[in-house]
Amino acid sequence: MSAINKNSGLRDQTAGQTALCAVDLDQTGLSYCGYDIVELAEQSTFEEVTYLLSHGELPDSTQLHQYATQLKSLRSLPPSLKQTLEHIPATAHPMDVLRTGCSMLGTLEPELGFDQQFDIANRLLASFPSMMCYWYRYSHDRVRIETQTDDNSIAGHLLHLLYDHPADALSQRAMDVSLILYAEHEFNASTFTARVCASTLSDFYSAVCGAIGSLRGPLHGGANEAAMALISQFQNPEQAVKGVKKKLQGKEKIMGFGHAVYKVSDPRNAVIKQWSKKLSERAHDQRIFTISEVIEKLMWEEKKLFANLDFFSASTYHFLGIPRCLFTPVFVCSRIAGWAGHIFEQRKNNVLIRPRADYIGPALRSYKPVDQRV
Ligand code: COA
Repeated sequence: MSAINKNSGLRDQTAGQTALCAVDLDQTGLSYCGYDIVELAEQSTFEEVTYLLSHGELPDSTQLHQYATQLKSLRSLPPSLKQTLEHIPATAHPMDVLRTGCSMLGTLEPELGFDQQFDIANRLLASFPSMMCYWYRYSHDRVRIETQTDDNSIAGHLLHLLYDHPADALSQRAMDVSLILYAEHEFNASTFTARVCASTLSDFYSAVCGAIGSLRGPLHGGANEAAMALISQFQNPEQAVKGVKKKLQGKEKIMGFGHAVYKVSDPRNAVIKQWSKKLSERAHDQRIFTISEVIEKLMWEEKKLFANLDFFSASTYHFLGIPRCLFTPVFVCSRIAGWAGHIFEQRKNNVLIRPRADYIGPALRSYKPVDQRV
């Protein structure tokens, strides 16, 4: 392991082992348990991927049917969780809602032993879309939605709750692909948070609450919302070029660009960009996609910075009719799969994560009582 650079944010440091996900900068790009994410995004479903991340292998058709049926049965929310969600104001950040919902569920259905961890992971996977939409619809429209739908997939269920009717096949598939792409990403900040918490032998819900807190920040999951806020400021490509150049001159960061690990491209970008394009063509609305593409080109020309997954996820979610404030919570509905896999993995071979720090404060000095201090 190379020496730690001061203030490096642990970049390029290996902080543990995982069998869940490989980020290969020279060859494949990104793979989950040995499967290239491009292949998974083209051919698999989110449920197959979440099963893979929990079990290390893809399910056969019987296993997949049983697993999807089980997830489907876990979508309802306990009455007191609904009441808690009803108390959260419409002005709250929806990431705080999911953090609270997760914490509340942890008091109602606590983890009494680590043998319950798989059931809790499934419960959170199945119920995060319900929590998010129940709060959103109640706080904004005063509607108490039924959170148990007939949709077979989590993608379909999530869109159904938001739209109040089943989503069409193309929208469901776009959401499914997005959930696959967001599901796992090695030792990113939120996953590392979950692993640090799990390493203390704390409970599953605490590890997930911590991870949600880390994902909330604009340098991590919050970038998809921030990217949409940027893109929607501009009416046309000319305005976008002018506006982004001005921001770069002012040393502002453009959210949805750059990456702590990837250096020349994010392997997930090409996949999500195609979906953004497809949905924009269906909507006969090229403005947002064209502006996004212009910003992508400009960022490469000006800064050699490439779009990461968050940038075209923003326009994809826009075309799916997802309110901007829910972009990062949708990320939670997916990344819970990766967090769960990492919590299982951490617990299986646990060592308390407790690094050292280089002390840079004052030299040792003697204490003076308060009345003797000048
Ligand atoms: N827009 C403008 N400039 C950027 C930038 C961005 N999105 N990302 C990095 N830079 C610039 C920094 O300002 C810095 O410039 P300087 O050397 O002149 O000060 C340089 O590139 C290195 O930045 P740094 O933040 O140290 O790079 P990093 O590779 O360690 O950081 C991120 C990675 C993700 C934190 C960073 O690219 C970023 O903040 N991106 C925007 C947030 C985002 O999209 N997050 C989601 C990641 S999936």
